[in-house]
Amino acid sequence: VPRTAPSITTNGQARGESDREFLVGYRHRVRFTSDAFSPDNPLLAEVVKREDGAVARAMVFIDSGVADAWPKLRKQIADYFAAHDATMALSSGPSQAIQIVPGGEVAKNDRAIFETLTQAIHDGALCRKSYVIAIGGGAVLDAVGFAAAIVHRGVRLVRVPTTTLAQDDAAVGVKNGINAFGKKNFLGCFAPPWAVINDERFLTTLSDRDWRSGLSEAVKVALVKDAKFFDQIARSIDRLRLRDHDAAAPIIQRSAELHLNHIVDGGDPFELNEARPLDFGHWAAHKLEQMTDFQLRHGEAVAIGIALDVQYSALADLLPTDRVEPIHACLRNLGFELWDDALDDTVTLLAGLEEFREHLGGRLTIALLRDIGQAVDVHQIDPRLMIAAIEHLGASVR
Ligand SMILES: NC(=O)c1ccc[n+]([C@@H]2O[C@H](COP(=O)([O-])OP(=O)(O)OC[C@H]3O[C@@H](n4cnc5c(N)ncnc54)[C@H](O)[C@@H]3O)[C@@H](O)[C@H]2O)c1
Ligand SMILES: [Zn+2]
Repeated sequence: VPRTAPSITTNGQARGESDREFLVGYRHRVRFTSDAFSPDNPLLAEVVKREDGAVARAMVFIDSGVADAWPKLRKQIADYFAAHDATMALSSGPSQAIQIVPGGEVAKNDRAIFETLTQAIHDGALCRKSYVIAIGGGAVLDAVGFAAAIVHRGVRLVRVPTTTLAQDDAAVGVKNGINAFGKKNFLGCFAPPWAVINDERFLTTLSDRDWRSGLSEAVKVALVKDAKFFDQIARSIDRLRLRDHDAAAPIIQRSAELHLNHIVDGGDPFELNEARPLDFGHWAAHKLEQMTDFQLRHGEAVAIGIALDVQYSALADLLPTDRVEPIHACLRNLGFELWDDALDDTVTLLAGLEEFREHLGGRLTIALLRDIGQAVDVHQIDPRLMIAAIEHLGASVR
């Protein structure tokens, strides 16, 4: 008689097998708009919807940096829900259902903040068909997203990214998480959001530093995926520096699209395989963020990580040497510093390779460049060559 569940006989042999494969389909809803919380903008109401016709309950978490820059936002959101009360409702009064979360990396570093998030969702009595709407930078989206993903094993998450980095990279990702034990994203999960709503208006209140920071992820995805896109960024540098919105919007959108395409069409959304081109420059970036006590922004650390791995790619004879300077120049002209004194501590920095390997699992796999627009995976990094790359970088920028 075939058995439906495996069982172990007394001599340790498995008897019967019930291995099955199954696929789970997701819809990744990514929308671009302006003024998402204007009552006559239907987008949010279209995605925050119960398929059974019941009124969808929701809570909203706002990055404190956004709340400060947009003092009327809380009222606007309450008005939006009131205008769409046939289909959506706040879980309780606005003072409880709309909460402010400390913005920046502290949202991922401070466990007490994370506890507050799960407590708030508990107090709001959200169910799995309810919505958590997270409005903020990548850090707040990661932390709120993780809380939403683990409460009841997953409440629907709508991300409203408000930084260049969150719009051109983080929000379309399927990862959520917080930092722990001094390690980036040590606690987290893969959980695609219910929807992503990119509202370009939010970018107008960013500091110059945060405006610039996210552009490194656009350069990164161009370098590993799309040489023409790299040229487009390089041609737009002056306008990007001036925060010219018309120049930036297509670049942010193309970067988001390339990240999204990789997740949706790359065949490995939950990163079960080795190749991780979107993590180009990130082994050093994550370690530098940690080494500088998060004084470096993620995007700033990524710019340095890219510059370093580009230099290494050339020293390792993978990348033609004449490609190095145009890439470094692009980052520099966007306003990035390509050096931080933490790079002098090569022993600690290189330990980041092993931490990176451990985080991704299996053998070390680092994406390097073969050309602009073409990544190549390597499974070994020569420490002496990496130190030489650091010295080259130091000599060229100091
Ligand atoms: N989940 C992913 O796939 C993924 C991908 C890339 C990066 N990340 C993570 O994203 C984080 C970095 O995100 P970030 O660059 O958005 O920085 P951030 O979230 O740290 O925000 C930077 C600062 O900008 C403020 N801010 C946000 N929006 C604002 C606005 N519209 N106006 C004024 N101030 C505003 C914030 O309060 C904060 O002080 C890192 O933790 C990184 O690891 C995650
Ligand atoms: Zn990144």
